[in-house]
Amino acid sequence: MPARKSCILSDFDAFLFSRRAGIDKSPLKEYLSIKCMKMRYNNRNDVLEYEKRLTKEDYPGILFDVVLAELTGCKEIIDVGAGNGFFSIPLARQGFIVKAVEPSAEMIKVFQDKIDKQITSLINIYHSDWESWEGRKSDALICIHAIYTMNINKAIQKMKLHSNKSLLLIRSDEETTALSWVIRNKMNIERLLLKHTRMKVTSIFKEHHIKFITKDIEISKGVFFENIEEALGYYCFSLGVGSFSQKTVRKIIEPHLKWKNGKLYALERYWEKLFIF
Ligand SMILES: C[S@@+](CC[C@H](N)C(=O)[O-])C[C@H]1O[C@@H](n2cnc3c(N)ncnc32)[C@H](O)[C@@H]1O
Repeated sequence: MPARKSCILSDFDAFLFSRRAGIDKSPLKEYLSIKCMKMRYNNRNDVLEYEKRLTKEDYPGILFDVVLAELTGCKEIIDVGAGNGFFSIPLARQGFIVKAVEPSAEMIKVFQDKIDKQITSLINIYHSDWESWEGRKSDALICIHAIYTMNINKAIQKMKLHSNKSLLLIRSDEETTALSWVIRNKMNIERLLLKHTRMKVTSIFKEHHIKFITKDIEISKGVFFENIEEALGYYCFSLGVGSFSQKTVRKIIEPHLKWKNGKLYALERYWEKLFIF
C-alpha cells in the first residue's frame, strides 16, 4: 500500500484558508485570528514592519494626548502590552515612571533600541505576559490595542487590582470612511475579534461590578504610498489577508487612491473606544 502523505496545516495556513474559503465558523475564526496575531507579535520581520508603518503614520498621534490628559496627578504607570514602546517612551519623557509589561522578545528588542540615556532610569521592561506578571500596584495603568490575545477576564480583574485607574483602548469596528473598511466590506472580512473583545470586556465589567466610563475617539489620518505595490503591501498586511488576495485588493483600492504631491494618498477615518475604570 502506498504510504499516505501527511498533510499538516499550520494555524496560519488554516487561518488564511478559512478566510479564503469563506468558512463561517466564528469560534474557529476567532481562535485562528488570535493565533495569527500572536505569531505576528513574535515574528521579527512583522515587528520591524509594524515599527516602520506606525512611525510613518506618526503613531500614537492624538491618542497620546488623550491618554496623557487622563493621567494627571499620577506618577507610576504600568503599560500592559507595551509593544515597541510607542506609549512608554513618550510617557517617560513626560517624567512618568513606567513599568512596561511585554511578552514578545522581538518587540522588546525594538523598544530597547529606542530608549535613550535621558529616560533609561524611568523605564523598566518586564519580559512577561500580563496574566503572569508579578508587581506592585501603580497609580495608573494603560493597555492600548493589546487585550485581544489575552485571557480577558483574568486580565481585567488583575488591572483593577494593580491600579487606581486603568485606561483600556480597543479599536472600534464602527468605521466610517476608512479604505480598510471598504476592503473588509467587499471581501466580507468581519472584525469578529474586535466585536467580541468589546462585548466580553463590557460583560466582565458588569459581572464583577466594575464601574467604568467610555470615551469615543475619532481618528482621521492620511496615509501616503510611493506606488500601488506599497499600498497593496500595507493593506494586505494590516488586514491580515495573504498575498494571494493582492489582485482582489488592488481592484478595490485603485479607484479610491488619489495622487497628491507625487504620492498615492488615502484617508483613513475610524473610531477608538477608551474604557476608563
Ligand atoms: C498591537 S501591539 C500594541 C503595542 C502598544 N500598546 C502600542 O499601542 O503601540 C499589542 C501588544 O500586546 C502584546 N501582548 C499580547 N498578549 C499579551 C499578554 N497576554 N500580556 C501582555 N502583553 C501582551 C503583544 O506582544 C504586542 O506587543
